[in-house]
Amino acid sequence: MDARPIGVFDSGVGGLTVLHECLVTLPHEDFVYLGDHARLPYGPRPLAELRRFAREIGGYLEARDVKLIVVACNSATAAALPELQTELRVPVVGVITPEAHAAVQATRNRRIGLLATEATVRAGRYEELVRTLDAGAQLFSVACPRLVPLIEGDDAFGAATTEAVREVAAELKDAGVDTVILGCTHYPLIRPILQRVFGRDVTLVFSAEETAREVAETLIRKRIENDPAREGSYRFLTTGDPEAFRTLGRRFLQLPIEEVEHVELAALEAVA
Ligand code: DGL
Repeated sequence: MDARPIGVFDSGVGGLTVLHECLVTLPHEDFVYLGDHARLPYGPRPLAELRRFAREIGGYLEARDVKLIVVACNSATAAALPELQTELRVPVVGVITPEAHAAVQATRNRRIGLLATEATVRAGRYEELVRTLDAGAQLFSVACPRLVPLIEGDDAFGAATTEAVREVAAELKDAGVDTVILGCTHYPLIRPILQRVFGRDVTLVFSAEETAREVAETLIRKRIENDPAREGSYRFLTTGDPEAFRTLGRRFLQLPIEEVEHVELAALEAVA
């Protein structure tokens, strides 16, 4: 039995899709979620910079005594998962491996599409993993720099988002993919737009459910679960504006958001 909370982080509200699934799958665990809004978006940044951010946040959460860290951000996972796993004492779960695995299992024609941030596409981790799992599968990657700012903006479900989705989907449709990895934790937030543009015949693979399953299995195998009879709690930290986080976050978490604490970037930088 281990009563410590689980740490989860993302550049913004995207990781709430992963937290949502974790809260549903593991209602007896406590969670602390950090959104690095002051430095969002991560996607256009160099991988070395994302590595620095991830190490700062990983170290900060570890210092707050979490028992496991979920990197609920594909860009940070793509840039920094091996470094985090090497340097931190607690187990670290990323969002890329579970998705690559699910996509290889789901595809029938072995043509898989990837929609992700520029950083994630640049890092090439999905390509490596898909090839490792099925050397005959082909991955078609498209970077979508417009989507995260639209999803974090005032009108996530507006015409501009549909237009941006149509544009990136066209390339994957031309390539004849039957499965598309949503390689950014922000994208499930616009799931209906994506599914309508791709159509029902294309399987969309989301990281949230796959990752929650991996977290649950890791807790059991390492024997660090909390008491299953209790009800867990969850709270939030942001490097940005707590009020803005609460408003946007509630819509996407679909659960109440009460306490949101502001964290100075200097506090993160001090840990590294
Ligand atoms: N939601 C994150 C990801 O999964 C980061 C998006 C961004 O900040 O650009 O990639």
